[in-house]
Amino acid sequence: MLKYSDIKKQLNINALKETGDAAAYFTHYLYNQNSKLSKYFNKEAKKYWQEKSQDNFPDNIKFKQNVPFPEPDNPKFTFIDLFAGVGGFRIAMQNLGGNCVFSSEIDKYAKKTYETNFGEVPFGDITKIKETDVPEHDVLCAGFPCQAFSIAGKRKGFKDETRGTLFFELARIIEAKKPKAFFLENVKGLRNHDKGRTLKTILKVLREDLNYFVPDPKIINAKDFGVPQNRERIFIIGFRKNLGITEFDYPKPSEEKVKFADIKERKTVSSKYYLSVSYLETLKEHKKRHKNKGNGFGFEMLDENKCANAIVVGGMGRERNLYKDCRLKDFTPVTPKKGGLNSEFIRVLTPREWARLQGFPDKFIIGVSDAQAYKQFGNSVAIPAIQKTAEKIIEEIV
Ligand SMILES: C[S@@+](CC[C@H](N)C(=O)[O-])C[C@H]1O[C@@H](n2cnc3c(N)ncnc32)[C@H](O)[C@@H]1O
Repeated sequence: MLKYSDIKKQLNINALKETGDAAAYFTHYLYNQNSKLSKYFNKEAKKYWQEKSQDNFPDNIKFKQNVPFPEPDNPKFTFIDLFAGVGGFRIAMQNLGGNCVFSSEIDKYAKKTYETNFGEVPFGDITKIKETDVPEHDVLCAGFPCQAFSIAGKRKGFKDETRGTLFFELARIIEAKKPKAFFLENVKGLRNHDKGRTLKTILKVLREDLNYFVPDPKIINAKDFGVPQNRERIFIIGFRKNLGITEFDYPKPSEEKVKFADIKERKTVSSKYYLSVSYLETLKEHKKRHKNKGNGFGFEMLDENKCANAIVVGGMGRERNLYKDCRLKDFTPVTPKKGGLNSEFIRVLTPREWARLQGFPDKFIIGVSDAQAYKQFGNSVAIPAIQKTAEKIIEEIV
């Protein structure tokens, strides 16, 4: 039978090279062609096919999803994946029997990783997507960036109060499509952002303007749900008021405690992950200077019997989890290292370890450079914490 990889090859689907949303329409069509939602994608999908293939557009493209994370066979509910990144939400929701009917992500490298793993190219910039072009769905999922609302409270209605922010984009989709539920994720700092005004405005919009039951948001730590990472995030959940749901219990932390040693690389890692003598010296100097000033900034060594610090993008993100790994035998650098490799066996974590810290199964394909991979996993969600919470949401609505 025809496979997704054959179609990809034949049409030369390449998320890095796509400039518009044509490949997004086509791949979304593939998964929705037999449902009533195909109307959202079929016109553009047909155009894409006709431009790229000599054959006529088939009535039904039968194919096998040979990707690591195929859509479930008999889905129980539908969802959309906004600010999709590399699909952390998607894995959690698919594990619960969800069918993703729409995804959006602006970054082309994240799109590439997404397509490699799910066989779907996300749509691009959400600010350019008309809410009427988003299909109906049961749950809207979004880990949206946190921004202040400069005119909140001064005007009436969310359209004026929040316009120009990415929260506005998802609010207008909620207003138009009225999903049964939404699941929003953000940094813990959202709680105190702009002296608490940002969260206050978000809750007011969701509760009053959009008419959803929104229980108090909860700070959830990834380490309480089966991954060895101390990552606190705020979860905001809502149910359409006419469903009559008036209570929601967040999941209880699991008893099982995991440590870094449980997920660390099982074999010796490449010397490229080991710090150079010169860089390690710089880090030590930097830490000393801060210590003298009385604060605890600087690199941190990871105890393998404990949890890792939160993995984050930028700054000293990688240096907050340095690990002494004495398994290295060959100290020949594979990339230039000033002063050679350090002799204390200190290395950064690998992209695969970052993936595991977020609960990504090893079948997840990392098909991008290390620099992109760190960014993608640092930006992503801890899948088990998302899944446990989503399970509670699904119990209420299915
Ligand atoms: C915090 S990350 C969410 C990651 C995701 N939950 C995951 O599991 O990988 C936010 C994402 O929003 C994307 N983004 C930012 N602005 C966007 C826009 N205007 N349209 C679509 N995506 C956007 C970023 O590229 C980033 O990948």
